[in-house]
Amino acid sequence: MSNQIDPNIIDRVSELKKALHYHNHRYYILDDPEISDAEYDRMMKELMNIESDWPDLSSPDSPTRRVGSPPVSGLETITRSVPMLSLDNGFDDGDILEFDRRIKKNLDIKEVFYTVEPKLDGLAVDIAYEKGKMTTASTRGDGITGELITENVRTIGSVPLVLLEKEDVKIPDILEVRGEVFIGMEGFSRLNEKRLEKNLPPFANPRNAAAGSLRQLDSRVTAKRPLEVYLYGTGRISDTGPDVKLKSQKETLLWLESIGFRINPLNRYCIGIVDVLEYYRELNEKRPRLPYDIDGMVIKVDDVSFQERLGMKSRSPKWAIAYKFAAVQETTRLVDIEIQVGRTGALTPVAHLEPVNVGGVMVSRATLHNEDEILRKDIRIGDVVLVQRAGDVIPEVVKVIESKRDGKEKIFDMPDRCPICNSEVYRVSGEAVTRCVNAACPAQIKESIRHFASKGAFDIDGMGAKIVDQMVDKELLNSYADIFQLKQADLEGLDRMGPKSAANLIAAIEKSKTLSLASFIYALGIRHVGENVASLLTGHFTNMDMLFSANREELEAVEGIGPEIAVSILNFFRKEENQKAVRDIEKSGVSVLAPDRSEPKTNKLEAKTFVLTGTLSSMTRSEAKKLIEQAGGKVTGSLSKKTSYLIAGKNPGSKLGKAEKLGVEIIDEQAFDSLVNIK
Ligand code: IVH
Repeated sequence: MSNQIDPNIIDRVSELKKALHYHNHRYYILDDPEISDAEYDRMMKELMNIESDWPDLSSPDSPTRRVGSPPVSGLETITRSVPMLSLDNGFDDGDILEFDRRIKKNLDIKEVFYTVEPKLDGLAVDIAYEKGKMTTASTRGDGITGELITENVRTIGSVPLVLLEKEDVKIPDILEVRGEVFIGMEGFSRLNEKRLEKNLPPFANPRNAAAGSLRQLDSRVTAKRPLEVYLYGTGRISDTGPDVKLKSQKETLLWLESIGFRINPLNRYCIGIVDVLEYYRELNEKRPRLPYDIDGMVIKVDDVSFQERLGMKSRSPKWAIAYKFAAVQETTRLVDIEIQVGRTGALTPVAHLEPVNVGGVMVSRATLHNEDEILRKDIRIGDVVLVQRAGDVIPEVVKVIESKRDGKEKIFDMPDRCPICNSEVYRVSGEAVTRCVNAACPAQIKESIRHFASKGAFDIDGMGAKIVDQMVDKELLNSYADIFQLKQADLEGLDRMGPKSAANLIAAIEKSKTLSLASFIYALGIRHVGENVASLLTGHFTNMDMLFSANREELEAVEGIGPEIAVSILNFFRKEENQKAVRDIEKSGVSVLAPDRSEPKTNKLEAKTFVLTGTLSSMTRSEAKKLIEQAGGKVTGSLSKKTSYLIAGKNPGSKLGKAEKLGVEIIDEQAFDSLVNIK
């Protein structure tokens, strides 16, 4: 800092910052301002003036940062050590009662207490604080890796830049909080009015508006959007001090509120599942009058030690569920039915509708699922139909309004030939799906190749749907491996493809050849094997050959992989053409990056499984995990008799007691250090 700055100015800056943070909290969090807006603006203006004269006095936690900063060229990513999870959905009381039954059975108890929270329809964010000051904010992304949106989140008034320090509350040095960023109804209409005035297209719904605003490259644009936030949980967190234990979701929410975060006042502690179901009806009834969109409520087992005992599935906790509200419905005319052919050759009838606004979203197509559904609902071309949309799910036709028929409606017949390649179609008995017999059907090839080249798979930049369609139509591509034989001259003949873009695409294809094993597996489009499952597989099978020869037992031994996924993988690799396809790809010069864990530096921890609890002082959990995996060991989330060691850091959780009971060896950080001994 420059020596010439008058100490009075330094004092004034810290006074202004403190006052502005305080009034910000009163205004946004407590809804109880003490001063007028004009007074607040005056202080803000004064601080901005000083900071512009003395740039050294400006800091990231300054309230002036809420106005945003100049654009960045792209969003960087961040990797988290505590993943952001997703939620299973329930759609009726039966689903929720079943959820409750399962929990009681697993925990062997008679009654479970839950914390219930309205499920806002916005975007999940993770906001990190160090020593009480906000440092980064990120989107959920795939749970582990998210996009950094720090400057954008700083502009949200209800996000504290500095946490409230009180005598009795110790703010942890490291704190990640999680919540939902959203735009309320009123903010949404104002925003759209302004856009229409400026001849900009309006946002389809508040969720899209929130997503678009958060992923802006210019945070000054974000600052003008009416974003709000409600926090609902924590991620990575260090020592909270002896007075704070966070043993339950309820305590966590209260504590978050006490250090300055905005918590939804409609969160409710429920004594047993009957209480939960009652609250569902109450919320559903309130829903049309709420100032924001909710699409359901989140039910969470309150007790943290119970949460730990229940553990999680591949990407969602077993201790929480989202109970969705009924979807929004509208009527419109069905003008035609088209058949789409998917990656697996399935023929899906799709309804073309007269465009209609369903709960804020324009809908012009809806899935009819399959032939049986059309027959069951007696859907005819020209019918007036009831359409519904539920969250992000593809819109669907619920039923026909028969009273609107005038006799001119046409009955739809499922074609007996594939509309794309004219091959025969068939239905396996007992299945509702009609499939094209031709594995070389261009529609199947197109869909498979689109998937193969997509992000998360081979990620070939510039190989979008239109390009793939042309390549297949011109018979440049017949299989995955053909992609790697493409020459620049082949591409130059395609529509809208000059020499430069052709060269770029060839370069992108070359670049895509180096990828992780997980991306390779995902690219194959095996049913039920998404990115997450692919990555789980690579924790156990470290090359394609191992996966080829895995049997059902070995597959099901992978945590997060059940019988359905295992059978689908087996069926895939059993087929000779699939084996050949993989071999051909390998022969094209594809090089698979070995994940760190796939090549143990030593194998001294082979067959040893570890569970972590508490905070380690010299490394993060993901660093510890890496060390263990490099030595050939494995880290799991929950304890069992088979666990080899529990590593107990500072403030260990309930796992400590459980390990004692199970007779699992408990080691501290030092003992762990000497065990791995690779530093
Ligand atoms: S908890 C522990 N709580 O729902 C499980 N999620 O499908 C992690 N959401 O990505 C989520 N309100 O965007 C949780 N009170 C709430 C929520 C909530 C909205 C969203 C969130 C998440 C998605 C999960």
